[in-house]
Amino acid sequence: MGHACVTAATVLALLTLVPPAQAEPAPPIIAGIARNLPILARNGMVVAQEKIAARIGLDVLKRGGNAVDAAVATGFALAVTLPRAGNLGGGGFMVVHLARENRDIALDYRETAPAAATADVFLDATGAADPQKSRDSGLGVGVPGTVAGLAHAREKWGSGKFSLAELIAPAIRLAREGVVVEDDLADSLPQGARRLARWPSSRAIFLKPDGAPFGPGEKLVQADLAATLERIAAGGPRAFYEGETAQKIAAAVRGAGGLMTPDDLKGYAPVERQVVRGTYRGHEIVSMPPPSSGGVHLIELLNVLEHFPIRETGPQTASTIHVMTEAMKLAFADRAEWLADPDFVKIPLSGLLSKKYAARLAAEISTERARPSAEIGHVDPAPYESDQTTHFSVVDREGNAVANTYTLNFSYGLGLVADGTGVLLNNELDDFAAKPGAPNAFGLVGGKANAPGPKKRPLSSMTPTIVLKDGKPEIVTGSPGGPRIITTVLEQISDLIDHGMNAAEAMEAPRFHHQWLPDELRVERGLSLDTIRLLRDKGQNVVVGGTLGSVATIQIFEGLMMGAADSRQRGTAAVGW
Ligand code: GLY
Repeated sequence: MGHACVTAATVLALLTLVPPAQAEPAPPIIAGIARNLPILARNGMVVAQEKIAARIGLDVLKRGGNAVDAAVATGFALAVTLPRAGNLGGGGFMVVHLARENRDIALDYRETAPAAATADVFLDATGAADPQKSRDSGLGVGVPGTVAGLAHAREKWGSGKFSLAELIAPAIRLAREGVVVEDDLADSLPQGARRLARWPSSRAIFLKPDGAPFGPGEKLVQADLAATLERIAAGGPRAFYEGETAQKIAAAVRGAGGLMTPDDLKGYAPVERQVVRGTYRGHEIVSMPPPSSGGVHLIELLNVLEHFPIRETGPQTASTIHVMTEAMKLAFADRAEWLADPDFVKIPLSGLLSKKYAARLAAEISTERARPSAEIGHVDPAPYESDQTTHFSVVDREGNAVANTYTLNFSYGLGLVADGTGVLLNNELDDFAAKPGAPNAFGLVGGKANAPGPKKRPLSSMTPTIVLKDGKPEIVTGSPGGPRIITTVLEQISDLIDHGMNAAEAMEAPRFHHQWLPDELRVERGLSLDTIRLLRDKGQNVVVGGTLGSVATIQIFEGLMMGAADSRQRGTAAVGW
């Protein structure tokens, strides 16, 4: 691929590079040995970033629904209880494993650019990328996919025991009666207040008359959202994409300087895609294909890691973190070069996913010396901004599994509620490369492939993933975190498979992230100073601070479901029965 420079020495090394064998890991350690313990269940489990929505999904499972029914109920509920990321006005991706048919499906309900979007839509008069346009104006709003996606999932893969209206009913009740502000809502509202305050329609819902956000113990009532949900319950997704709701959404976007029309909404459709597949030390990886880059680079990274004795070098050591970091740089350089909406751009998917290509990348990695990102390529990076997406994982007793990640992009998206609908709108189109080499809000760069275009989907990093062992779900996982999603999911899978951790231990382990540009290895607090020194000795630009990702993982071992919700955010929950 683009950055890999094959020399005679590389080829020689390649010939000798056979992935080292690792002994089969022991069963996940549980009580008496592990310091962190997962929640256990046998009949069904939901792990989500907000506890009321997780319990709503569990209730559906208890009432005979399958994992897809539960996921749909949780997805609608999160739009009310976790409004900074749960949504009707955004989009996302769902990976489903159907036990009876032994089938894996990827559902793409990513937002699309309006038909009037052009390649230069986010440039200023001088031809420079103008982040204000993609992040803070109606131009950044993609046509929402969530309502169509969740409805499609229920219709195609739900148990048939629950109507869409029944699965939406708890969300309607919560929106109408109000939710008590606590946990993540209490944390995120003050942070989002400035963005929300820019729009009277948003202020009226999320802020009090004095301009302060609702605080802990107060009630957030979303009456307009309840009415929109009621229209969807009565009329199906068309009641969102056509008529009153669609007109109000298009008007709000245009009022904020965007290009969306009611026809854009009418024309929106989710897409069923082939999952991307790989293997990692005998486990089958099933993940999201483009327009998310998540699954492709997760598999690319795991293929590279197979060439290193990660189990022997151990968790949280400088040796392991260094090798994983070097692999991350190469994968993210590929991301910038190749990945985009597959309906518009040809992606060399089989190459990126191949074991041969991974062997070539592995041969480029020195276990002793960090390779500067500039050697791989150079583009000016941008600082990180906040990222807010949300993931939930569901399994049922039949062995069906759902990994779902969806988002408004920024926390509370653009911050604009389409007046009269209660629907917060995304600013997802910032995930396009406004101009080749111009970084988006996550510091991610891209080339022409990910340029904006009419009806095109911007490239994502969301990585809803199911790991199968002998054809059955073994790990269901995913995370928010923009580009950090990919590395967070990678570390989860490595911790579980390589190091025999249980889901709770893997969740607690300090995380690290490199995305090629900027050339920095970000690590969470908790990594030992000795380890950081050893990494710096190898040439890694270690930056300590912040949190990375927020996983929702279910591990299944001999029918036992073990769940862990991330402690990096308050109010997350793993619930089972
Ligand atoms: N908006 C973040 C992502 O899709 O990766």
